Amino acid sequence: MSVERTLIIVKPDGVQRGLVSEILGRFERRGLKLAALKFMQIDRELAEHHYAVHVGKFFYDELVSYITSGPVVVAVLEGPKVIEIVRSMIGKTRPNEAVGGTIRGDFAVEGLRNLIHASDAPETASEEIALYFRDGEVVTYSRAIDFWVTG
Ligand code: PPS
Repeated sequence: MSVERTLIIVKPDGVQRGLVSEILGRFERRGLKLAALKFMQIDRELAEHHYAVHVGKFFYDELVSYITSGPVVVAVLEGPKVIEIVRSMIGKTRPNEAVGGTIRGDFAVEGLRNLIHASDAPETASEEIALYFRDGEVVTYSRAIDFWVTG
């Protein structure tokens, strides 16, 4: 069984609205393993690296000011097919299109305030993890429950 890692960011609206434990709790309860965790403020330089692929898009400036507007929680989650699982748990990018049962569908309403970022592919996940965490900060360990979660 191959194990993947993904990066998630509880965005400034998630922190300000007191949804950090709700959001992280959903991933924990699903059975995904926490491999790294950080509470931090993203500065403009880091945001520009993170969103470099979106330079020139009409929403770029707003995207950078939103992610730098307050503290965030950044985490690495681990598990088989974790990228696909996390993307399905967060719901569609535009909260008004996100279905109930997803994080955005349950807690977000509209526009840019979509609460959470998650990597969309293995290559972007590796790049994003390296942007936020040094090697030693991503921890490898086993859990007693792994047998019951993934067999
Ligand atoms: S694209 O063009 O399809 O690649 O864009 P998309 O994947 O939908 O979104 C990329 C990130 O930009 C955010 N986004 C926006 N921000 C502000 N305004 C508008 N209109 C907008 N549309 C998309 C979106 O939330 C993505 O950020 P992350 O952090 O990855 O969720």
